[in-house]
Amino acid sequence: MKQKLREEILSLRRQIPPTLQKEYSQLIQKRLLELEAFTRSVNVMAYVAFRNEVETMPIIQHCLSEGKRVVVPVSVPKTRELLLSELKDPERELRPGTFGVPEPAPGYIRPFPAEDLDLILVPGVAFDERGFRLGYGAGYYDRFFERLTRRVPRIGLAFEIQIIDRVPTDPTDQPVDFIITEKRLIDCRRMGR
Ligand SMILES: Nc1ncnc2c1ncn2[C@@H]1O[C@H](COP(=O)(O)OP(=O)(O)O)[C@@H](O)[C@H]1O
Ligand SMILES: [Mg+2]
Repeated sequence: MKQKLREEILSLRRQIPPTLQKEYSQLIQKRLLELEAFTRSVNVMAYVAFRNEVETMPIIQHCLSEGKRVVVPVSVPKTRELLLSELKDPERELRPGTFGVPEPAPGYIRPFPAEDLDLILVPGVAFDERGFRLGYGAGYYDRFFERLTRRVPRIGLAFEIQIIDRVPTDPTDQPVDFIITEKRLIDCRRMGR
């Protein structure tokens, strides 16, 4: 059920032409910058986009130039967990890691405590308006969210074609609080989940 859906949505996402992908990513960034949870944040966890994900490098650069601290996930395949590492200089520090996702090279891993995060930007294959999320199928973010001891706003970034009526969920699936697309901001906490 989940796997077929993943393939469908990923295929749709691959069909977005690069120029539109960039334009949509800029609109998404603009909406994010207007969000109070973002303007108030100091320590921002951001994924580093790969393949056709909503771009985040301009957001990361914006955060660094505003003096926010940027924290990126490093996947640990053995335990399917995410480690947190502070990123200071994306151009210098990133290289392809697990699955080809850009991650800090071993010499640039700077562990960062999850308790200090103020905001989490979440990638996904699909989301629904309740905030439920379909990932790539390894449950990394579900495990990570489960471990958090503090409420930290989680913001899914997605193109409108990734928003579907209902994501099939398992008990371990952890929702996001907001979703930003090129068309709108979805406040999932209002969606009666
Ligand atoms: N907190 C967790 N503890 C243990 N296993 C988990 C946890 N969260 C997810 N999983 C497992 O990880 C696998 C992938 O999760 P799934 O939700 O299908 O992937 P994704 O979230 O990437 O779409 C499932 O077998 C799921 O049971
Ligand atoms: Mg899941």
